[in-house]
Amino acid sequence: MDLFEAIQNRRSCRAYRPDPVSRELIAELLAWAGRAPSAINVQPWEFIVVTGEEKERLARRILKAHREKKVSCGPGTSRPLPEPWTGRQRRLYGAMKAIAEPLQLDLNHFVGEGSCQFYGAPVAVLVCLDSLFPPVRMLDIGLALGNFFLAAQARGLGTCPIGLILAYEDEIKEHLNIREEKQLLLGLALGYQDPAAPINRLQADREAIGGMIRWIT
Ligand SMILES: Cc1cc2nc3c(=O)[nH]c(=O)nc-3n(C[C@H](O)[C@H](O)[C@H](O)COP(=O)(O)O)c2cc1C
Repeated sequence: MDLFEAIQNRRSCRAYRPDPVSRELIAELLAWAGRAPSAINVQPWEFIVVTGEEKERLARRILKAHREKKVSCGPGTSRPLPEPWTGRQRRLYGAMKAIAEPLQLDLNHFVGEGSCQFYGAPVAVLVCLDSLFPPVRMLDIGLALGNFFLAAQARGLGTCPIGLILAYEDEIKEHLNIREEKQLLLGLALGYQDPAAPINRLQADREAIGGMIRWIT
């Protein structure tokens, strides 16, 4: 698959077929992630891959924490988002609602509980950074994840980044026996997309990039 086609067609997948993904394929995608550049080539990313019954157990643990604490998806900022950012979030939720409401799905419930269960994907990947590193090293991890998402797209797999579960970091670390000094940065769902699921028709729009560029010439 052409790189630009993969960039164009990738989108977050929120419904999966139960078909397992082979260990070889997951390892290949992570190897592509590991081809990303990183400052002084330290390659600070760490991945935890959870599949099968272990993934179901993890999802049940996260869901339990979610039902107790009820954290909802948000930008994670210390104060409400001003424009232009808040309008973008509103438009995303509007597009999601247009799909969810005719199906009598409560959007908050769908996204909250769905995220906690990795939207039913057979594979959950957790991404960690050692707390020895400064926050700027998250950039290196972002670059690796960009590779991962595109490689998955090129291999015909769906993905969804899942930040909501960070609200339950303590519970996840305890459940998976992750060492204290490892910071959980993101979860992600991986699997074969369910093409029949209406939610997978969602296309999150993008603003023209021109407004986000300042040219100095
Ligand atoms: C860091 C990060 C965290 C995210 N967390 C969630 C999440 O918890 N649940 C969810 O459904 N989508 C989550 N998303 C997916 C975004 O909603 C999605 O990327 C955005 O709406 C753009 O849509 P697209 O990925 O389909 O292009 C997350 C994306 C990123 C980059």
